[in-house]
Amino acid sequence: MSEELAEVVVLTGAGISAESGVPTFRGAAGLWRTYRPEDLATLDAFRRDPTLVWEWYDWRRGLIARCAPNAAHRTLAEMEQTIENFVLITQNVDGLHQRAGSRHVLELHGNLWRMRCTMEGIVVEDYRVPLPSIPPRCECGALMRPDVVWFGESLPAEVMSAAYAAVQRCRLMLVVGTSGVVYPAAALPQLAHQCGAYVVEFNVERTPLSLYADEVILGPAAVELPRWWAALISSGKFSTAS
Ligand code: OAD
Repeated sequence: MSEELAEVVVLTGAGISAESGVPTFRGAAGLWRTYRPEDLATLDAFRRDPTLVWEWYDWRRGLIARCAPNAAHRTLAEMEQTIENFVLITQNVDGLHQRAGSRHVLELHGNLWRMRCTMEGIVVEDYRVPLPSIPPRCECGALMRPDVVWFGESLPAEVMSAAYAAVQRCRLMLVVGTSGVVYPAAALPQLAHQCGAYVVEFNVERTPLSLYADEVILGPAAVELPRWWAALISSGKFSTAS
């Protein structure tokens, strides 16, 4: 492997799953009924009306279950297989990276295929669609909540520190399909830039993160990311035989 590619970090957001059919948060299709994600993805909303919040998650789980990973997800899974020091960080909770074959994913915002007991904190995987009863309850009788990070909540500390460490060491960072407005995730490309990494952004439009990118590749990630990867391989800068 060439020296320039010794450390590669990728940060993904909802845009990478757009061509799989998963609505982005800030796009026109991001609304469910009349609610914005900011109205439902909070502990307050859950305390006020757990049934409503779970109905939203049940709808999203159903939608995502019918979606398949796309060529961008698959490219990242292939990069993980090929690059020795490769770290994939995602803000997505849809699990599509894992379904595409990525084995190590730093999930900053959790995963909606897991739920957590609000009393005991026990985390379980649950792939049932639709859920047989809403809101779901733990065996102990307490409410379960989605094992995701809501607005106003802290990101999982271990995941975040692994992400910071990888970003600080990396030589190349790809930023794929994120609006770059939700912190602390949005700080990661800025940090990579400050630490001297070469930053490439993939998005259908420019974002606040474009300022920190050495290259901005405009277009659908499912087209542009595989194309970029194929060009890199054929450029000879990178050898798959290593
Ligand atoms: P957003 O919905 O904010 O942004 C999606 C980004 O993807 C936008 O910049 C789009 O231009 C871009 N995009 C759309 N289609 C694309 C495509 N086919 N190819 C490439 N890019 C495309 O989603 P996130 O940035 O992921 O947090 O949002 C960040 C966080 O805000 C989410 O993780 C979630 C949300 O509220 C929590 O739930 C805590």
